[in-house]
Amino acid sequence: MKFYIKTFGCQMNVNESEIMSGLLTREGYEWTENPENANLIILNTCAVREKAENKMHGAIGEYGRFKNKNKDLILAVGGCSSEKERDEILKRHKKVNFIFGTRNVVDIVNMVNRAKRGEKFSDFSDKLSDMSHDLPKMPNSLHHAWVTIQYGCNKYCSYCIVPYTRGFEKSRDFEDIINEVKDYAKKGYREITFLGQNVDSYGKDFGDGKPKLDKLIKEAAKVEGIERIWFMTSYPSDITDELIDTIAKEPKAANYFHLPVQAGSNNMLEAMNRKYTKEQFYKLVHRVRSKVKGVTLSTDIIVGFPGETHEDYLETLQLIKDIRFEKVNIAEYSPREGTIAAKFKEDNVSKEEKNKRLMEIVEIEKNIGREENEKYAEKIIRVIQEGKTKHGMHFGRTINNKVVMFDSIDEYNGKYVDVKIRRVSAGPLYGQKIADETQVDFKKEDPTLKIFD
Ligand code: SAH
Ligand code: F3S
Repeated sequence: MKFYIKTFGCQMNVNESEIMSGLLTREGYEWTENPENANLIILNTCAVREKAENKMHGAIGEYGRFKNKNKDLILAVGGCSSEKERDEILKRHKKVNFIFGTRNVVDIVNMVNRAKRGEKFSDFSDKLSDMSHDLPKMPNSLHHAWVTIQYGCNKYCSYCIVPYTRGFEKSRDFEDIINEVKDYAKKGYREITFLGQNVDSYGKDFGDGKPKLDKLIKEAAKVEGIERIWFMTSYPSDITDELIDTIAKEPKAANYFHLPVQAGSNNMLEAMNRKYTKEQFYKLVHRVRSKVKGVTLSTDIIVGFPGETHEDYLETLQLIKDIRFEKVNIAEYSPREGTIAAKFKEDNVSKEEKNKRLMEIVEIEKNIGREENEKYAEKIIRVIQEGKTKHGMHFGRTINNKVVMFDSIDEYNGKYVDVKIRRVSAGPLYGQKIADETQVDFKKEDPTLKIFD
């Protein structure tokens, strides 16, 4: 039996799809690239913005039509939109066999078996305690792995649906995570990214109330074979000095923080129920930059939140210009039914104004990106080669998350490569591969931020 999974949204979904693929493959199901050939199609959906949800409805329609030809096709819908819409999906889309939640992906084989027996159902049970390092997975990459360390979110930002779709925050067992990292290392993986909505509060729910991401990174760094450790996403006010010190001192920890600030005005931050002020955010950035060599920062911004005035927006612009983020994910505010903002605040910034603000920030981001990247022109930098783009060039990332394009061969995927930068853009750097780890002993040198003339 062939299966196909369409994944929308964040890396958590990507990771959960890898687990479902692994479990189904273990049962003898076979992955197909072509949904038309599949007997089982799973949509792993996102609900963060209305656009994402519309995509889900479109995809259900599209894949549902395959049933005209293939009567036995099983169509399942999981992920955040499934949680948000629940039985509405079954009512609206008659071709869907079953819907499931964000906390029971581990039960996918059972659910498919129920559907095969002709059952039409929704199942939102909590099976997180069955998640463990020895679940089979089918990752896309052979050298970089996603490792979820925390489920759910307790922050209740007023605009955000995630706490309702992913439930309360729950940290995964420390030993279990390290065992997963060891498993990946044994298979030859060299990079891992710890995933969660607020990874910097990892472990706060273990009893002593103290976050433990720093300890987790230190322990993972001891695993032989693992060369780089990334983590996403950090909640700005949960970052501890211990975490910053660990990133500064641990050579394997990536010098990169994704710090979603969302807005640069205290009025907006308060209305969004973010638990920090603009001033505290500036201070945090200062703390990080003064300790972590070559660190790069990226962020998420929402424009057009209810009540956002032109002045509020200008404060956000100023913050972006001051901090000079490497990357800014910008979203127009999208009211999400069930959230506090959707209930109590009128979506009163016009579509045109939201779009204007968004485009202006995109332009500023590009200028900052180009200027920052100029610093790398004609330098030699060290990356781990990740793979090939659609256009045929290979690419890799530096330890501070700079993406570099160059001509190479697949044999070097997962290997350290030194690249001389010949051209910069607002996005990637472009260069020429001048050496790889078969020629240079990278362990003797600083394997981290390798920028030398
Ligand atoms: N902690 C997670 C947040 C998940 S949502 C993380 O940072 O990855 C991802 C981003 O989507 C948020 O940071 C926010 O910028 C954006 N977002 C969430 N809800 C939104 C909404 N209702 N409208 C527009 N953007 C939203
Ligand atoms: Fe959403 Fe805020 Fe949590 S953006 S995921 S409620 S930290």
